[in-house]
Amino acid sequence: MADTLIMFNIRKKGFIIVLSAFMMIMAFWLQGCSLDNTAYDEEPVKDSESIAGSLITVGFSQVGSESDWRMANTKSVQEAFTVDKGYALIFNDGQQKQENQIKAIREFIDQDVDYILLDPCVEKGWDSALREAKEAGIPVIVYDRMVDVSDTDLYDAWIGSDFYLEGKKACTWLTEYLESIEYDGDINIVDLQGTLGASAQIGRTKALNDAVSKNGKWHLIAQETGDFTTAKGKEIMEAMLIKNGGNINVVYCENDNMAYGAIEAIRAAGYKIGTNLKNNEILILSFDASNEGLRLTMDGVIAVNTECSPLYGDMLVEMIEALGDGEKLEKNTYIEEEQFSNFKGIGSLRIDGNSYFVNEVDEELLENREY
Ligand code: AHR
Repeated sequence: MADTLIMFNIRKKGFIIVLSAFMMIMAFWLQGCSLDNTAYDEEPVKDSESIAGSLITVGFSQVGSESDWRMANTKSVQEAFTVDKGYALIFNDGQQKQENQIKAIREFIDQDVDYILLDPCVEKGWDSALREAKEAGIPVIVYDRMVDVSDTDLYDAWIGSDFYLEGKKACTWLTEYLESIEYDGDINIVDLQGTLGASAQIGRTKALNDAVSKNGKWHLIAQETGDFTTAKGKEIMEAMLIKNGGNINVVYCENDNMAYGAIEAIRAAGYKIGTNLKNNEILILSFDASNEGLRLTMDGVIAVNTECSPLYGDMLVEMIEALGDGEKLEKNTYIEEEQFSNFKGIGSLRIDGNSYFVNEVDEELLENREY
């Protein structure tokens, strides 16, 4: 709940505790909650201090606010780490810059937080900051994207997506789709990449590169970063259309926001979007399966949308609780994710001996979708 969240980047843990106490009292007061009136009247400071003193402080270094996925992810974490559950969450928006995230980690160390949550914008370059956290005795949980460090003991655990598998699912779907419509011509593909060096980009790009090098008829004619944003997705799609004109068959968008931008650019340039390649339609593949992305999938604008879930909040709370109970966490945990398409011919995919369902999107699914 918004009224229970602490989002100020404040310097001293003592101040956080006093602020938390104040917010706690305000929250109870505003909600008419059941603070014992007699006790509140007689010893208000003692009550609030004992509540605030027991709060667990968590420094949360977020990548930024570049996409629908990211906004949903911030919300998920903020809604999970609430004062009424015993947490003071200190949120820092890195604005997609690693230097800001490193600065935030150092501030969390200065503030002597109990735990650090890190969603790293890129994989490399974390050794020093994480070593400082380790030396300060602050456990670090990395989630969503990975860090590539010389010593994996620098963080306690990572939980996130298998981004390479996501890319493989998208490419396998495309292979099956082309077979099912008996399309055996060449296809020209353009790749709108995520932020270069981010795990989500590395895995998805690699899966496409691997599929292209295995398939003699797939040609990767352009590959450029759109930084996971709608605006940059649109900008690079416009440039690719100008350069390649009607020669683009498939757009591999490494997230939904770039797909929104690409769709706008393709329509504005007068090209048709769809799955009928024989009729010169441009087929769009996307990742995330956010609400808007799934609506476009239901409408057949996005041919297949491979899920990347942002809902980490409750899982991260469980991990911190386990650490608090003295448990050792799994070092790396992959979450399970789905795939969506409204093309009826492909119900499931077989990849490396495993089966993955391809789900249809309907209004009910969209209504219940959390992001
Ligand atoms: O790291 C997850 C990726 O980052 C999501 O695919 C994207 O939308 C986000 O910005």
